[in-house]
Amino acid sequence: MSVSEPNPPAAEPVRKGLEGVVAGETSISDVDGQNCQLIYRGYSIEELAGKASYEEVSFLLFFDHLPSRSELADWIKQLESLRTLDPGLLEILKCLPQKSNAMAWLRSAISILGQLDSEEDEEALEVIQRKAIRTVAMLPCIAAAIGRLRAGKLVIEAKKGLSHAANFLYMLHGSEPTTEQATALDAYFVLLADHGFNASTFTARTILGTKSDYYSAIVGAIGSLKGPLHGAANRKAMEMLLEIGSPEQVVPYVQRTLEDHKRFMGFGHRVYKGEDPRAKQLKGVAKQLGETSGDPRWFEISENLQKAVWEAKKLYINVDFYSASLLHYVGIPTELFTTMFACARVAGWSAHVMEQARDNRLIRPLALYVGKRDLKFVPLNQRS
Ligand code: CMC
Repeated sequence: MSVSEPNPPAAEPVRKGLEGVVAGETSISDVDGQNCQLIYRGYSIEELAGKASYEEVSFLLFFDHLPSRSELADWIKQLESLRTLDPGLLEILKCLPQKSNAMAWLRSAISILGQLDSEEDEEALEVIQRKAIRTVAMLPCIAAAIGRLRAGKLVIEAKKGLSHAANFLYMLHGSEPTTEQATALDAYFVLLADHGFNASTFTARTILGTKSDYYSAIVGAIGSLKGPLHGAANRKAMEMLLEIGSPEQVVPYVQRTLEDHKRFMGFGHRVYKGEDPRAKQLKGVAKQLGETSGDPRWFEISENLQKAVWEAKKLYINVDFYSASLLHYVGIPTELFTTMFACARVAGWSAHVMEQARDNRLIRPLALYVGKRDLKFVPLNQRS
């Protein structure tokens, strides 16, 4: 141990859950918790939402500027050319337990993708970037294949000429989505594309920081996103809406949840001290979808719940709350919700992995040991 690194660090308070700890620098996104603002590479989320497509935003996250028209055309072409499922991967996916968690499927799929890549352990930045672009293009294909296989259906290949979001819906449903559905999912992808050092991104950076490979970093990120306090909150939020069932049942549900000391999924945030800026945007999209679907119930339940939880507990909604009704309205099965989060966030994970690789230092915090000391070893034949 070096002299400059005492263990335990005498004057350092332990910040449980690393709350408030600045663990590194990034120029990819800024999560301003006090002012409830989110910025991607200099652009506020309000500036991009409804104007930029996921294709443009993923390019922005990767290359630090909005694409010119020709750059965007090339980027779209490149993503399009990479939307092909490896037959080896598909064969392995077909062997997985059909009803297992969709995020477990995705985690396995990316791991296999890595093993099928002859350049898996190549560290050169341009190789990492190549893998990242391929994974951004492929993830919705894999998620759609998972959705089809879990439902016992045949996998559908991507269709040329459709946007990233529209292609996912096409591959999942077997028919082209309406413009409104594709635009809604595109908005969702844009709003969830990156978010500072959230748990899954930090996991990815930590893994890459050991000089492990790109795929391992993404597999780790998927594992982190799978948790209900992070990405699976969108699935849990939908399950909550389904359990409530009607706007009239919101108040009794809130009372029950408070009595049982359970959490309201899609509420609360570690960083934002007010409403998550993404939530407002998603609410508008969900409302619109509810109106045109002819079944505004899921939006109405959500809106009533937002009010009731605020009155009861002064909790703000987070990004996952209106994601639930939005994803439901575009016809995505609840079990697939968290894979949608991964389809969006993979651009952010990739940008962070590349940023980490460009200026790497092993991520290795300290722990304050609070266990026993100075115990004496007792040979096995003298123990009970
Ligand atoms: N429902 C009920 N009570 C809550 C909630 C909630 N959703 N969120 C926070 N609280 C209460 C919590 O009970 C605690 O109260 P007390 O001090 O009386 O025990 C207090 O607020 C602080 O909670 P915490 O868990 O210490 O706060 P945190 O900063 O560690 O938690 C959180 C952040 C997101 C884990 C938490 O708000 C939560 O569990 N939310 C529900 C799950 C969820 O929606 N997750 C998605 C997060 S945003 C998108 C993403 O990252 O994927």
